[in-house]
Amino acid sequence: MNIQNKIEELRILFDSDYQLFKNKKVDYDSIYNKFLSRKGLINNLYSFLPDVKAEEKSKIGKEINDFKNLIISSLDKSNISNRVQSSKENIDFSLPNTYEKYGSIHPITLIINKINKIFSNIGFSIIYGPEVDTDYFNFEALNIPQHHPARDMQDTFYIDNNLLLRTHTSGSQIHFMKKHKPPIRILSPGRVYRNEDISVRSYCLFHQIEGLYVDNNVTFSELKGTLEYFAKEFFGKDVKTRFRPSYFPFTEPSAEMDVYWGLNSESDYRITKGTGWLEILGCGMVDPEVFKSVDYNNENVRGYAFGLGIERIAMLKYGIDDIRLLYEGDVRFLRQFKK
Ligand code: DAH
Repeated sequence: MNIQNKIEELRILFDSDYQLFKNKKVDYDSIYNKFLSRKGLINNLYSFLPDVKAEEKSKIGKEINDFKNLIISSLDKSNISNRVQSSKENIDFSLPNTYEKYGSIHPITLIINKINKIFSNIGFSIIYGPEVDTDYFNFEALNIPQHHPARDMQDTFYIDNNLLLRTHTSGSQIHFMKKHKPPIRILSPGRVYRNEDISVRSYCLFHQIEGLYVDNNVTFSELKGTLEYFAKEFFGKDVKTRFRPSYFPFTEPSAEMDVYWGLNSESDYRITKGTGWLEILGCGMVDPEVFKSVDYNNENVRGYAFGLGIERIAMLKYGIDDIRLLYEGDVRFLRQFKK
């Protein structure tokens, strides 16, 4: 049979197979393999070329190429609509069956996200203050003047006389109040730095979340109510909390809130110093001196503020007994924390 007839015969065969393919009676792989694979019918046509007369060779060669391209483009077009179905059949069984997810969310971030969510639900917005700040924002405006003994509680990393790494997130309160008028409801999470000896319990950096609520006639009982709501949402509705009087220069009166965690494991003993109670935050009513620093002159303006320590909560919640694990980035440690 001459090659011309052979091409015609294949055209007829392809037309009928193509109808079957479109009607899903034949699948993509079978029609593709039959015509286009290495041992398929089209490649087979090329094997007749050496016998074709020299002057016809290029014409016949082109005819086969065109036919091949027609098949490719017909299959391609219909395959777009068939792809969803045929993708099932095109699974590459040599690929690995699962992908290991290497990343996981850091326990500190998990806790911050959870706390942010709890306060967002009652109308607090999340804002951020700078980690490198001035003496004024970190101390002065918060009623901690030069030589105030409270400065000794927070060993500071100074960059120069005036610039420092913030020792707490409380400076974010000042940044925000200088730019906004009451009412204010903000939460400001972030990293803080203190020049402390590194040990199982303390590190040169850690995380806090600052909260601030300012409006007319805000009361201490609203502060307590909000923090109790937070403790129930975070630790569960049966959580026991207690408030102890305390002192901070930027709040008056001031308090600290403890939660009762119990003494069920060795790390509970260590972290709660054998009492079962853990101090998780400092709080109080914003001192009028702070309002003066930010030019809030309205007599009725009141506010409450609080500052939560994240690491302690993370260590207790996850039973972590060495704070340094939180900063080493060891994936064997980090991988354990999922939501
Ligand atoms: N800034 C305090 C600290 O680092 C924590 C704190 C206490 C923040 C009382 C507050 C507050 O907003 O009202 O120890």
